[in-house]
Amino acid sequence: MSFSPDVYKINNLNFVPLISESEVHKTILDISKQINEDYKNSVPVFLITLKGAVFFAVKLLENIELDCEIEVISAKSYGSEMKSSGNVIINVADLNLENRDVIIIEDIIDTGYTMDKLLPIIHKQSPRSVAIASLLAKPEKMCVDIKINYLGFNIPSDFIIGSGLDFDEKGRNLAGIYVLQENKNSL
Ligand code: IMP
Ligand code: MG
Repeated sequence: MSFSPDVYKINNLNFVPLISESEVHKTILDISKQINEDYKNSVPVFLITLKGAVFFAVKLLENIELDCEIEVISAKSYGSEMKSSGNVIINVADLNLENRDVIIIEDIIDTGYTMDKLLPIIHKQSPRSVAIASLLAKPEKMCVDIKINYLGFNIPSDFIIGSGLDFDEKGRNLAGIYVLQENKNSL
């Protein structure tokens, strides 16, 4: 049984379910199928952005039926605040993406600043193509125009946790997506 309480408390904040585990799984499976189709003549490199995208990446990759490779990078922007700092730190390991079809796996595109910083770094390595797969996006908060090739869910601007996403490092292990209770009625 996965961890999916009715209410999850961090400090004095209550988070309640927004998207169920089964909806999340079904949507990720659909994305895997689409990628299997789109990349059937390629050996793509999946670039996982730590830490939040790990959950999405595992579920996605379990259903990828292609020869593929996996790399990880760390991209950090949120601290213990609930809004993007715009101050994005990217740690690129020893990547060699020359002539490769790259699929970036991200947990959520919020302001888009993280992707805006990451994309030029990836393009510098002369990949053949670059696509973005993101479990979630908050379209109303996007400040830069980022094209998301594979998207799970568009959600309102509220702060969420679960399925790899955290508040102050807590809540990543929740199955499904949870939202701050105060915001639930406005969804
Ligand atoms: P962006 O640079 O504003 O697009 O933010 C991207 C990163 O901020 C994501 O990869 C997440 O790690 C984090 N983030 C954005 N929105 C949320 C949220 O609602 N909950 C938890 N983390 C978030
Ligand atoms: Mg992230």
